[in-house]
Amino acid sequence: MNIQIAIDGPAGAGKSTIAKIVAEKLGYTYIDTGAMYRALTLKALNEHINLEDAKSITDLLTNTKIQLKPSSNGQLVFLDEKDVSEEIRSNEVTKNVSKVASHATMREIMVDHQREMAKQGGVVMDGRDIATAVLPEAELKVFMSATVEERARRRYEDNKHRGIESSLEQLKSEIAKRDKLDSEREASPLIQAPDAIFLDTTELSISEAAQTILELANERM
Ligand code: C5P
Repeated sequence: MNIQIAIDGPAGAGKSTIAKIVAEKLGYTYIDTGAMYRALTLKALNEHINLEDAKSITDLLTNTKIQLKPSSNGQLVFLDEKDVSEEIRSNEVTKNVSKVASHATMREIMVDHQREMAKQGGVVMDGRDIATAVLPEAELKVFMSATVEERARRRYEDNKHRGIESSLEQLKSEIAKRDKLDSEREASPLIQAPDAIFLDTTELSISEAAQTILELANERM
């Protein structure tokens, strides 16, 4: 049986890396919902739209096409037919995405879109509100976290691999700030669903974390 797997958690907990592996092993579709909020943020920044204005952001989304397409290394993100997979990972987008993602009216449209994408069968979806709002009926819900120090360290290593210089202390404070905004907003805040399984990845390798989720998934099939 094909199931739905919802993975939520704070920034840098390893959600997307692990979700990608799990989806690949199961032959499921991987849906990175954070990438969708990032794509919208990129467009809002490019068009100099007031990020605090819920109506402008909501109107912008109704005139925007965001697509996730599978590729050999996971997923490509298209914004109005343009590949923005790299651009949406910029510092500028990362710093502003939580502001854009806070608007309830915009989120309703985004969530409809995400549910539509999940209809096709086996799916692994990661984000902040997947278990609580997008797929509340998912057979497996995981809340993945790690200490902020470890999450900052991973981002730092990640950046280094991509040739981006960064400061560990700055990454730590940016991650903590984004977690705070995401957890304290009114609309679908980042919170562990009561029926989600908590997975602390601080001491786990990527393959150990993926294996844990695969075992939980198998028990539910
Ligand atoms: O997962 P990622 O770090 O790329 O997500 C970027 C941002 O998008 C999050 O910090 C959060 O503000 C927003 N987001 C959200 N709901 C989701 C996924 C991401 O609000 N389901």
